[in-house]
Amino acid sequence: MNWSNEITDLLKIKYPIIQAPMFGVTTTEMVVSASNSGCLGSLPLADISSDKAIELIDNVKSQTDQPFAVNIFVYDLPEIDQKLKDNYKRVKNFIENLANDHQLEVQLPEIENLSYSGYRDLIDVVISKGCKILSFTFGLPDKVSIQKLKENNVILIGTCTTLEEAILLEKSGIDIICFQGSEAGGHRGNFLSEIPTDDLGISLLSEVASAVSVPIIYAGGIYSGQDVIRLKNCGVQGYQVGSLLIGSPESALSTSEKNRLKTLGDDDIVLTKSFSGRYASGIRNSFTQSLDETANILPFPFQNKLTAELKKVAKAHNNIEFVNIWTGKTAKNFSELPTQQILKILINEAENSHN
Ligand SMILES: Cc1cc2nc3c(=O)[nH]c(=O)nc-3n(C[C@H](O)[C@H](O)[C@H](O)COP(=O)(O)O)c2cc1C
Repeated sequence: MNWSNEITDLLKIKYPIIQAPMFGVTTTEMVVSASNSGCLGSLPLADISSDKAIELIDNVKSQTDQPFAVNIFVYDLPEIDQKLKDNYKRVKNFIENLANDHQLEVQLPEIENLSYSGYRDLIDVVISKGCKILSFTFGLPDKVSIQKLKENNVILIGTCTTLEEAILLEKSGIDIICFQGSEAGGHRGNFLSEIPTDDLGISLLSEVASAVSVPIIYAGGIYSGQDVIRLKNCGVQGYQVGSLLIGSPESALSTSEKNRLKTLGDDDIVLTKSFSGRYASGIRNSFTQSLDETANILPFPFQNKLTAELKKVAKAHNNIEFVNIWTGKTAKNFSELPTQQILKILINEAENSHN
């Protein structure tokens, strides 16, 4: 198999395999392992503070001189009006009581005490630290930000989930499209409609591949070399793997969270807004069941900020009923091997597959 293509040329990597940015799971060690394997490591920054982002970028840079991407959440903060404040208070009380009923004592933050860093601040960090690859999800940076990034020769990878989103990304000057299928673990990257499509991403691929001329990375359900070959035959040039890596030693999941992965059944994965206010694919538990289909879900990012402390306390108590374990639909195929080995096996399998 000849790996060299537009993506390897643009990103200056050997294999067009991208370790998915997975906020809360990806460690700097995972990024370094992936990049040192000739693939692209991706450092997720989500919407953390600039100082923390600088620390993480410096950490990766101190361990590898290979290319890696940084990844951010792109969104504008909705207005905080009285209605939102009242809803926030109600949901906060509901979740605190629910947690208490399950022997978890938590004090969640007041809305006035939440802190946010806008994506524009993180773009400034990306530029000032000389990072050359930026991937993003949840939206499209504004024109000024895109121009600024281009002037600084930053290659842009935008996440999308539909044909319309893919076309918009290309029109906006994004260099590479990361097309995320509904098989994918974690948050869905839909941004033109609030509800993500149910269609399997692979069924939309040929249309997307003929509608855009920028190279396409596919994200969702890649666990083997055969999956890579199947996607290659659909016009895909890059392969982003997330759930395959969540059981690796470089994953930040706790032992109890990793143990839960080992007992995954077919009906255990749900698309839930309960933890963040945006749809994400992960393991069903008491929290998702109690919140989904109720009015106790605030719009993103408020639900996400509200539940952050709950997740922290639950994780410290090894309580997997109140943490978000994001995985894709077929995550039972995850691996416990080290990241480098997992990637090597994927590469070897693809090389030995017959297309
Ligand atoms: C635990 C977890 C966290 C994720 N966090 C992010 C993130 O911070 N940024 C992002 O762009 N995508 C995130 N994703 C989505 C992945 O980038 C990717 O689309 C997905 O993992 C691919 O599907 P797969 O899990 O079936 O391999 C996350 C996925 C998982 C499983």
